[in-house]
Amino acid sequence: MRRIPYRIGYFGGRHREGYRQVERRTIGATALDVGAVGLGCMPMSWGYSRSQQRGDRSLRAVHAALDAGVSLLDTADMYGPFTNELLVGRVLKERRADAFVSTKCGLLVGDQHVVANGRPGYVRRACDASLRRLQTDVIDLYQLHRADPEVPVEETWGAMAELVAAGKVRALGLCAVGARPARRGGTADPYEGTIRQLERVQQVFPVAAVEAELSVWSPEALERLLPWCRARGVGLLAAMPLGSGFLTGTLTPGGGFEPDDPRARHPRFTAEMMAANQPLVAGLRRVAARHGDGVTPAQVALAWVLGQGPHVVPVPGTKRERWAVENAGAAELRLTARDLAEIDALPPPRGSWD
Ligand SMILES: NC(=O)c1ccc[n+]([C@@H]2O[C@H](COP(=O)([O-])OP(=O)(O)OC[C@H]3O[C@@H](n4cnc5c(N)ncnc54)[C@H](OP(=O)(O)O)[C@@H]3O)[C@@H](O)[C@H]2O)c1
Repeated sequence: MRRIPYRIGYFGGRHREGYRQVERRTIGATALDVGAVGLGCMPMSWGYSRSQQRGDRSLRAVHAALDAGVSLLDTADMYGPFTNELLVGRVLKERRADAFVSTKCGLLVGDQHVVANGRPGYVRRACDASLRRLQTDVIDLYQLHRADPEVPVEETWGAMAELVAAGKVRALGLCAVGARPARRGGTADPYEGTIRQLERVQQVFPVAAVEAELSVWSPEALERLLPWCRARGVGLLAAMPLGSGFLTGTLTPGGGFEPDDPRARHPRFTAEMMAANQPLVAGLRRVAARHGDGVTPAQVALAWVLGQGPHVVPVPGTKRERWAVENAGAAELRLTARDLAEIDALPPPRGSWD
């Protein structure tokens, strides 16, 4: 537990003005501990509408998250590209000791497409460039964003392991967010290919964490990936834990998205599918209401992710100070067995996620 200056709270079991206890979790077997809820920095520069992305507001959101007990900041060189790391670097320059920085390599943004590059020379150059942008001399968790189909993953991972030996990186992670299409291909588990990949790279250097989508409406990682991680002491960074905002209950069906927001073309974000999936939001609201006035569906959605195991760290994305603080507060929400059972019994989501 770590003491965080805050307006109201408790410490050492007794309520005390000025401090609150913040739950910590360990990233895999690294002995590197982080606040139980992380911060996904992607929406500040990538993946959502550009008109909403403002550097000053985003900086305030990162500082507010750190003040509220968050330490894991999840970024990537491709977010922006590069501008997200530059933004996180401005914060790290001032308060490196408060943060655990996770960044990624292996995807290059071109004019029309994003392409994978897992060549060892490229990985080495990408790491040096990330260190410069992040204004730090070490990256806490360096993740392979996507394996390059033209380079054996062991080769890429070997180059990443050399970065650990060189002291530029503390631990390695693998992203599995793009694993979902395997389900469409007819395999029983969407993470089957990921697990095969993980077993290959484990032969080269230990995996500290896997980043995969996990939320109330995308629970597939619970089937095999999460147990695989648990059995090996590997942490799981839960990406998109708020269902890209849907589970927060703040999006109105038919409200529309700006044309450059990918949700404008996403099958689960049509007015029809958003209306059809409202029972999920209503279920989260019911549970939130039982926990008191200030508790939100977003916090319940994050507490459900936290409830999936002590090795799970959700990384909700936001560029807003208010939501960064709200999300950090989910670490203090304890769902009961009744709450968890009620959420697990909610109707499965409608609409393709692909
Ligand atoms: N490794 C990968 O390939 C990969 C892929 C996707 C995501 N990720 C990681 O996962 C993180 C989270 O994913 P995500 O950001 O796409 O999805 P998410 O966390 O499920 O949802 C983010 C969306 O929810 C909104 N939001 C956040 N907190 C809210 C709250 N308390 N109330 C109302 N709305 C709220 C955000 O709005 P605003 O942005 O307007 O604040 C944003 O639109 C990313 O930031 C990234 O670090 C990794």
